[in-house]
Amino acid sequence: MLTGSGISNESGLPTFRGAGGLWRTHKVEELASPQGFARDPRLVWTWYNERRAVHMQSAPGAAHVALAELERRLPDFTLATQNVDSLHRRAGSHNLLELHGQLREARCTGCAARRTLDTPLPLDEIVHDCGGSWRPDIVWFGEKLPADVWSAAVAAARRAEFMLVIGTSAMVNPAAQLATHYAERAYVVEINPEETAISSRVARSIRARASDIVPALLR
Ligand code: OAD
Repeated sequence: MLTGSGISNESGLPTFRGAGGLWRTHKVEELASPQGFARDPRLVWTWYNERRAVHMQSAPGAAHVALAELERRLPDFTLATQNVDSLHRRAGSHNLLELHGQLREARCTGCAARRTLDTPLPLDEIVHDCGGSWRPDIVWFGEKLPADVWSAAVAAARRAEFMLVIGTSAMVNPAAQLATHYAERAYVVEINPEETAISSRVARSIRARASDIVPALLR
C-alpha cells in the first residue's frame, strides 16, 4: 500500500498541492530543502514546530485505522507512506515504511545524535554541542530517501499482488514509482477523488475519499 497526504486530509491536515495545500501558500524551497535550512534554520524550525503541534492535535481517521486492521488480517502487508504525520503509526500500523521520514524526532547534521520532538525544538537550541545543527528527521527536496526504508519498499512492491495507492497526487518520485515501476506483478488500485499523475497507469481508479472505501474493504 502507498499513501500520501490525502489520507490525513480527513484528520484535518492539509495536503500539499490541492485546494488549501501547503505548497500553494508556502515556499517549498524555503521550508523543505537543505538550502532553505542553511539559509534560515529558525524559519524552517518555526514551521516544522507548528506542523508537529498540529499533527499531535489530530487523530487517525477511519482509513488509517482500517489499514492497521488490514495489516493484522493479511499475512504479507506493507504500508509505505509519504506522510510524516505519524497518523499511521498512531492508528496501529507496524509494518510501516516512512519514505519521507517522520516529525517525531530531530537529528543532528554533524553526528548521529537524535532527540524527540514531544515539545517544540527551542529556536536557541538549533546548534548542537558537536557543532552540527538539529534538523527535522524528514526527507527534503533534492535529498535521497533513507536507503533501508527505500529498499524495503521496493522489495514489498516487487512481491505485491495487490497495491492500493491512497491520497497521493503521485507527483513526487521515487515514491510514486513504487506503483508505476516496481509493482510489476500487482493489480494497482488508486483511491483519490481526483485524477493523478498515474491514473492512466493503474489498473483501476476509484474516485472517492479514502474513508469511503478503505474501511469497506474490511467487510
Ligand atoms: P499532494 O498534495 O500532492 O496530493 C494529495 C492528494 O490527495 C491529491 O491527489 C488529492 O486529490 C488527494 N486527496 C485529498 N483528499 C483526499 C481524501 N479524503 N481521500 C483520498 N485522497 C484525497 O500530496 P502528496 O501526494 O502526499 O514530500 O505529496 C507527496 C509529497 O510531496 C509529500 O510527502 C511531501 C510533498 O512535498 C516531502 O515533504 C518530501
